[in-house]
Amino acid sequence: MALTSASSGAAEQLQPQQPWMNPALDADSRTRLLLEAMTRDEKLALVFGYYSSDASWKKFKKPAEGLEQSAGYVGGISRLGIPALMETDAGTGVASQPGENARLRTALPSNLAVAASWDPDLAYAGGRMIGNEARMSGFNVLLAGGINLLREPRNGRNFEYGGEDPLLAANIVGAQIRGIQSNHIISTIKHFALNDQETNRTTLSVHIDDRSARMSDLLAFELAIAQSAPGAVMCAYNRINGNYSCENPWLLDEVLKRDWGYRGFVMSDWGATHSTIPAANAGLDQQSGFPFDASPYFADALKEAVEDGYVTTARLDDMTTRILRAMLVNGLFDDPTKAGDIDFEAHAGVSRAAAEGAMVLLKNDRHLLPLGQGVRSILIVGSHADAGVLSGGGSSQVYPVGGVALLQPHVKGGPRVYFRSSPMQALAARTQARITYDPGTDIKAAVKLARHSDVVIVFAHQWTAEGIDSTMRLDEEQDALIAALAGVNAKTAVVLETGGPLLMPWVDKVAAILEAWYPGSSGGEAIARVLTGEVNPAGRLPVTFPRSLEQLPRPHLDGFPEQRNARFTVDYTIEGAAVGYKWFDRRRFEPMFAFGHGLSYSRFELSNLSADVDDKGLSARFAVRNTGDRAGGYVAQVYVSPVGGAAALAWEAPKRLCGFRKVSLQPGASADVRLSIEPRILAVYDEAQKIWIIESGDYDVSLSTDSRNTVTHTTVHISRQIIPGRVTGTE
Ligand code: BGC
Repeated sequence: MALTSASSGAAEQLQPQQPWMNPALDADSRTRLLLEAMTRDEKLALVFGYYSSDASWKKFKKPAEGLEQSAGYVGGISRLGIPALMETDAGTGVASQPGENARLRTALPSNLAVAASWDPDLAYAGGRMIGNEARMSGFNVLLAGGINLLREPRNGRNFEYGGEDPLLAANIVGAQIRGIQSNHIISTIKHFALNDQETNRTTLSVHIDDRSARMSDLLAFELAIAQSAPGAVMCAYNRINGNYSCENPWLLDEVLKRDWGYRGFVMSDWGATHSTIPAANAGLDQQSGFPFDASPYFADALKEAVEDGYVTTARLDDMTTRILRAMLVNGLFDDPTKAGDIDFEAHAGVSRAAAEGAMVLLKNDRHLLPLGQGVRSILIVGSHADAGVLSGGGSSQVYPVGGVALLQPHVKGGPRVYFRSSPMQALAARTQARITYDPGTDIKAAVKLARHSDVVIVFAHQWTAEGIDSTMRLDEEQDALIAALAGVNAKTAVVLETGGPLLMPWVDKVAAILEAWYPGSSGGEAIARVLTGEVNPAGRLPVTFPRSLEQLPRPHLDGFPEQRNARFTVDYTIEGAAVGYKWFDRRRFEPMFAFGHGLSYSRFELSNLSADVDDKGLSARFAVRNTGDRAGGYVAQVYVSPVGGAAALAWEAPKRLCGFRKVSLQPGASADVRLSIEPRILAVYDEAQKIWIIESGDYDVSLSTDSRNTVTHTTVHISRQIIPGRVTGTE
């Protein structure tokens, strides 16, 4: 084969004996050539990963070549030019494992916040930014792409995920992954699958049927993978129908690799591998994070299993092929990472824009917000708002470049970290009003101040973290504090910093509520800009806020409070695919705040809805006009419901979100929108035939402000249609 060397990079040192280094060849050919040159031991080396931090409890020292205080390391093979995999968490930025030398990086708002923006472009920009920081920090794998469907509002990791709707989550998380991988590094998508609560996450078993799983949690993964081709899928801790995710042939082999035709590799979560032969044969391609698992299953034991034929050589080749191909496709060979300068100033702007796009104005009686010119005194209460903003805890913890305002090390699941971006200081820089701060620890003292202030802004925090679930209640007397302040000052606004939905016993007492989520390392400024009206809030809830726990499919969270190693079943057949608003609609429950809800400082009008079916499927057209006097963003939402017939019987719930678009409009301006509807969202999965069926019948297409409020609707007839459930060529 004649090798012509390209002009730069790896190709310049092209060795004739290393034809796979030629970027002009396609990834499949390069992978094949590489595989032919590898010994069995070299292949085995690639399927076994290490933790890249010291683990004193296991007397483990990080591999010398791995990057300090990071999540993972898989050795490269220099003889063949195969780079090592340098792995770091996670979805909001470059995280650091606990220790003295955390790297300081830009933190985006939580993933749930980004989902609340309903803006894939913003998600892409955020992904691109954190991917750049990963690359500049020497990492070529970002363990991002959290997309577990928000089935359990008390899940401590909801802040790492994309909300309760598969279409919204897939479009947001898919865009993030594309942004990350645009830096020539690999992004994961995780945690595959149905890892929706933290309580006993490594021992519980989720009980669900094939069809419901594919129409809910798996659909989010399927659509996101289709649009972003993440290099790796991280399998989860939990069991599904009795079988661990990382050794589950139905999940890994049948659904992911055969039905969806996924060609990347499956890596285990840290401590989620439980065997050698079952795991390898079920579809796990790489064991991660040794020594988190009980045993180095994919080291010597795998070698023995291959030698004995319990795992075939073909399967080991498949594992290796998947890893190498993902590396080649994503540019890890051709554009190796090298540490470089990060433009932190520009990245702060990206993070702030994401936070501003994500804030949801839940309530705004008598137009308390934005704060008017006439406000002379503002009392700010609680949650260290004088110093910073809260972040979610666990392996995804980013240590922010702007500095830590407060770090509480000894909380369960901690440390609990506040980023140094003070909403109060940012507000003070933007208003003439006199600002007073009260920590909120002494209710009487705060109430006294509230009586003499024009406006009270209470900051409420719900800290959530990996490994622990929440109760959905505010802790530390915050409910009593808010009720007391609202009792003496009618102009009380609440700013929420939460990981997910919250119960609010004081909801009717306060005038305004702004959901700011965990707003990231420029979050204080973003909050202040929304409060003053410099930014018009345009986020929408990516999750239903229930009125009470009794409205949930499982009013009591199974296993809570956690007893170590308890093994039990969580029954998802109760709601099946009817997650979130779909459950609320099916049960006719009135939520506190509906999925899709969010207010603006401006007014918008929706009109001219039409729906058409042609050979490409269903599409909807409509117009959005800003009829108010402020520029702002608006999220138009299209829901579809079958009008009787077979579909109405087969659907898990009365309606589904089928499309959405965020538009940004000057006062008086309007936009014409056309949305093509993803066919799977109109279909029902038939597990016997492995097909998706759109049933023939009439469907109501509604243009709505949220999942509960329809502005206008129309009806279309759709003929029966079959969508193959298995990508061809994967048999
Ligand atoms: C988490 C993963 C993370 C991994 C590596 C696990 O505890 O579940 O999301 O990527 O640790 O830190």
